[in-house]
Amino acid sequence: MNRRSFLTWGTAGFATLCSAVGVSFGAVLRFMVPSVFYEPPQLFKIGTPADFPFGPPTFMANEKIYVFRDQNKGFAVASAVCTHLGCTVAFFPSDDRFHCPCHGSVFGAGGNVIHGPAPKPLNWYEVSLARDGQLQVNKDKPVPSSYRLMV
Ligand code: FES
Repeated sequence: MNRRSFLTWGTAGFATLCSAVGVSFGAVLRFMVPSVFYEPPQLFKIGTPADFPFGPPTFMANEKIYVFRDQNKGFAVASAVCTHLGCTVAFFPSDDRFHCPCHGSVFGAGGNVIHGPAPKPLNWYEVSLARDGQLQVNKDKPVPSSYRLMV
């Protein structure tokens, strides 16, 4: 093998090696970035205050929340997701409690655990009034169950 042939094959081999390393590195980077974010938006609008009656809470299945509207206390939003294993709880106005159909946890109207196996109370979320007059819920901002928005 003469010098010219050695340099030609050496350069080609080095270029191939660099391209293989580059492709592998790119594949590793692509693997680390998810293609789809499955989590729904955590800040969303639910309608105007007039859309919600006084009395028992309104269940919004898509967002898995209960919207409470009280004449004197205002608006509050509770999560409908059981803190045990994530089933959707149902509110029963007859006993003013949330019941989980999966393993029988019971939560008070304030989301407190009355009996388990749920380990924690239901979550409550911040609700505010957007500029367009709609109620806006922020699931990234947990609030105490005593939190109310007066409209
Ligand atoms: Fe609600 Fe188990 S998921 S009690």
